[in-house]
This record gives sequence, C-alpha cells and structure tokens, in this order.
Amino acid sequence: MSLRSSLSRSSSASSSRASWHFLGALLVGSALSVALLSCTVTPLGATDDGISKARAASAPGAEEYDHECASCHGKRGEGLTTAPAVMGVGALPTYTRDDSSSSSTTFTSGQTQTGDNARVPGQSKRGAFHTAQDVYDYVSSRMPLPKSRAGTLTPEEYWAIVNYMLVANGTAVPAGGISEANAKTVQLR
Ligand code: HEC
Repeated sequence: MSLRSSLSRSSSASSSRASWHFLGALLVGSALSVALLSCTVTPLGATDDGISKARAASAPGAEEYDHECASCHGKRGEGLTTAPAVMGVGALPTYTRDDSSSSSTTFTSGQTQTGDNARVPGQSKRGAFHTAQDVYDYVSSRMPLPKSRAGTLTPEEYWAIVNYMLVANGTAVPAGGISEANAKTVQLR
C-alpha cells in the first residue's frame, strides 16, 4: 500500500470518527436545549454571549444602560417587578403584552400579541415596535422614568443604549452600528 493511500485512509477514518462525536454532541445538545426550552416560560434577559457582544459593540451604551435603565429593567434586561423585559427572548414585542397571556397555559415567550388593544391594563399605550427607529423614538421620549426624567439623555446616549439593547437581543445590526441614518431599515426580528 502506498504511503499516500494509507494516509488518506487513516484520515478519512478519523474524520468519520470525528463526525460521530459531533453527531453525539449534537444529539446531547439538542436534548438539553429541548429540556431547557420546555422550562423557560419567563424570559430571563439577554444571554452572556449577547451581553458580551453588546458590550463590545457599544461600550458607552452598556454604561448608560447600567446607569439609567438597569435599576428598573434589570442588569440583563430581564425586567423587574414593575418594568417589562427589554432584552432576551420575547423582549420588545411588537405590541405590549396582555396581562392574561403570562398565566395562560398556551403562553409562549415569543411575540404573543397582535393588537394594540392587548396592552397591559393601566400601562400607557405605545406604538408598534417594528424597527430600531420605533424603539429609539419610544425610549428617547418616554425613558428613563420617572416622567420628569424622560427624554433627558442626549441623542448620542439614546442611540448608544439602543445599539446595546438590540445587539444583546441578537438583532442583525449594520456594520458601524445603528444610527439615525439606518435605524428605519433595522428590523427587530
Ligand atoms: C424607574 C423605572 C424605569 C427606568 C429607570 C427605566 N424604565 Fe423603561 N420602563 C419602565 C416601565 C414601568 C415601563 C412600562 C411602560 C410604562 O409604564 O410607561 C417601561 C417601558 C420600557 C420599554 C418598552 C417595553 C415594552 O415592551 O413596551 C422600553 C424599551 C424601555 N422601558 C427602555 C428603557 C431604557 C432604555 C431605559 C434607560 C434609558 C429605561 N427604560 C429606564 C420603567 C423604567
């Protein structure tokens, strides 16, 4: 047997072993994620990966978010008692969620609402969130709370925060980040 054929034979044997390992890991991995998914009913904010990407993409946004927003929305955007989630699975739904949906057995953490009349009773209405511009418009005019503080950051600070939140959410963001020039083209999902 020539050296060449024995080499290629052994390399194909080891690559097929490698692919069995890969398949095994894939099967275990997907079994785990099915198990995890089935108990993840409440969104828990951005993933570690999302947070570290977002910090790299918008360091000033991370700083502003932690300083101005995290006290109510949580460090990972998971939402605390009175403030909704703004990062992670199910965050920033097109419309605000209906109260009853979270206790319904059919509730899933994706977008559950399709109409503005489904807003949480007692909360003020907002427009639909389709693009980064919609989120910017809302945040820059209505946040942070209390109301006297709404709109008090600079546009640069609000853009930095929007970049931070959306990168953490896994939204596809243009190279160079979201800005006034491209925000309308950045779809939330
Ligand atoms: C004092 C608490 C508080 C602070 C600070 C705060 N928020 Fe909020 N936020 C809320 C509450 C409560 C709501 C629900 C809407 C309402 O009551 O007006 C909300 C709603 C939102 C929403 C809409 C979520 C949805 O799905 O409807 C976004 C986005 C948001 N906040 C982002 C921010 C950002 C960004 C900051 C920091 C600049 C911030 N918030 C600071 C309490 C807060």
